[in-house]
Amino acid sequence: MQVGDFLSVRKASRACERHPSGLGHFDVALYMRTGRELERKAAGRRDGPACVLDLGTYFGHSALTFVLGAAQVSRRPGIRVLSLDIFEEPEWYREQPDIAAFIRTHGSADRDAVARSLELTCKKEGLPAECITLWKQDVNLVTAEELKGFAPGGFDAVAIDCGKTPEAMNSIVKLVCDPAVTRPGAVVCFQDFHDWHAPWNVVAFWKLLRLGYLRIRSIEPGIAPVAEIVKHGNPGEVCNRIEHREPDWCSIHTDRENEFAAYDGMSQLLDRLNQPAKRLRVQCLQVGALLRHGEVSEAEALLDRLDAEWPRWLRDGSLLEAYRRFAHVKTGKKDLSLRLRTTYSQRRRTAAARWLQRAHLYSEYFRSPVAVGEVQLRARREGGRVQPASVSRQGFEDS
Ligand SMILES: C[S@@+](CC[C@H](N)C(=O)[O-])C[C@H]1O[C@@H](n2cnc3c(N)ncnc32)[C@H](O)[C@@H]1O
Repeated sequence: MQVGDFLSVRKASRACERHPSGLGHFDVALYMRTGRELERKAAGRRDGPACVLDLGTYFGHSALTFVLGAAQVSRRPGIRVLSLDIFEEPEWYREQPDIAAFIRTHGSADRDAVARSLELTCKKEGLPAECITLWKQDVNLVTAEELKGFAPGGFDAVAIDCGKTPEAMNSIVKLVCDPAVTRPGAVVCFQDFHDWHAPWNVVAFWKLLRLGYLRIRSIEPGIAPVAEIVKHGNPGEVCNRIEHREPDWCSIHTDRENEFAAYDGMSQLLDRLNQPAKRLRVQCLQVGALLRHGEVSEAEALLDRLDAEWPRWLRDGSLLEAYRRFAHVKTGKKDLSLRLRTTYSQRRRTAAARWLQRAHLYSEYFRSPVAVGEVQLRARREGGRVQPASVSRQGFEDS
């Protein structure tokens, strides 16, 4: 994040504090920067305002964040965000304190209540409410023509999150690669890249990168690489083998070969981009892939390797998540409070290690995104290795 981003995130968090949220600080920084960038770009363009397709409204935080970013460029931002959701929070979810509070204030958690709350926030922030349009719509059912009706020139950015099914990921990939839906160069942001309940995000990202539909645009602290559309067409299904199993994150969504190729490919790419922390997080998800495909002792061996390699300066939350899922499969009991008790993990719990971890986190807050000029995927046949041709350290917003 740049220092300006950090201040913007604080401002956005205050503006959105009444909206239950699925966004982290780094997502907020990216969405605000994207909102600013699109608003600037659209100002010099003749064919309509900048349009964002937000695939998952929840309570509107992502949609609002793009607009707050655009409003840093113009007092009357022209940006238009179309946010789709089924607006069907499960009953148990409605009992979460932030959602229960929202329902008490707005009467429900349906589309109209979320729209009313967004209108109120827009009014408070001096933003035109027409910047955000909410559609109650299943992403599996929406058509490219309907989306084209909203953004005739195509969307300039798409936000993809978790909380969906592998079937929905197939629909999303189809829409994102449809020339009627996205413009060439449209920004593609994967929120929740490291979520255990959406392992297909990494697989989709890798497939689109490998087949040349996406190109990595920037490496951002704390979140997934940000991509842009460089080719349209039909990439085929990402989730090509769907078998629902319990626990749900153990459901099969693609062939073993595809899933492993994606994690291996992403890990190699992140290594070459000198992103050890991101690579370790992706490898933690790989533990899930091994468990899904019944390779429990391989999962244990990978966990041991990651534990030994995990740097003291890096918080090990992702590793703990992986360990807990492994223990769940091994013992049949789900316990999300389990802690690793190895010698290596003890070293990450000392006062000095915790200090280093805090320092690293704060340094991430002020780290600028790395614009990846040309990440060339020269998938060398043997081993599918990946080579970035050049990685430049520059802010991309003004470039
Ligand atoms: C992680 S949340 C979205 C977080 C949101 N972007 C934010 O800023 O807080 C995922 C959302 O996807 C929605 N969803 C699940 N399945 C869907 C589908 N088939 N079509 C559209 N939305 C869906 C859920 O209702 C949920 O609100």
